[in-house]
Amino acid sequence: MIIAVDGPSAAGKGTLARGLAQHFGYHFLDTGALYRMVGLKMLRAGADFSEAVRAAQIAQELDVNEFEDADLRTEAVGAAASRVAVIPEVRSALLQFQREFAKREPGAVLDGRDIGTVICPHADFKFFVTASAKARSLRRFKELLGLGIPVTLEGVTADIIARDARDASRATAPTKAADDAIVVDTTLMTAAEALKFALAAIETSTK
Ligand code: CDP
Repeated sequence: MIIAVDGPSAAGKGTLARGLAQHFGYHFLDTGALYRMVGLKMLRAGADFSEAVRAAQIAQELDVNEFEDADLRTEAVGAAASRVAVIPEVRSALLQFQREFAKREPGAVLDGRDIGTVICPHADFKFFVTASAKARSLRRFKELLGLGIPVTLEGVTADIIARDARDASRATAPTKAADDAIVVDTTLMTAAEALKFALAAIETSTK
């Protein structure tokens, strides 16, 4: 069983994907963390984002045990992630790991941008989670403050808008709802409501 959860930044993908994984007892993979890790390593190495070979090498050698890094969630790293995410060689270096993860039994929930379109086009269920730019900026602002990261709402909003534009317009695997994805607009939903909506959609289509 594979559940794909895609959508733009801070729409509530991760929360919904984790909730679904917990509900069904499935494995969960935050694929954004893979791109964030590559972005963070490029930043720390002082590398230029146009160095595709170097970025792909870093992607190839990622160690999933390092993913507790406190800097991973910052918007600077989010921006770096979206810079490396346009590089086709980086995406292909991360593809196999994601596909293998998706095969885990009894099931897996993956969240990202291209899970339903590229990584797992045959996923059993696909959700595209979205929300207004204002709601998403406010959520990310609160999330970062909660993590003790000093930010302003204006700064977070600008970062999110720039990142979404880059993610949606790139040539390889842009953020896009799969034709058969169920759209979940969380603008006016709590996390619990979004989970309830997704579970109801799964139940309806398995009847
Ligand atoms: O948490 P948030 O939604 O802001 O971002 P994320 O899921 O951690 O992803 C960070 C960046 O990685 C995104 O802006 C994308 O550029 C990239 N990404 C991607 O290209 N493909 C994925 N499957 C996941 C993330």
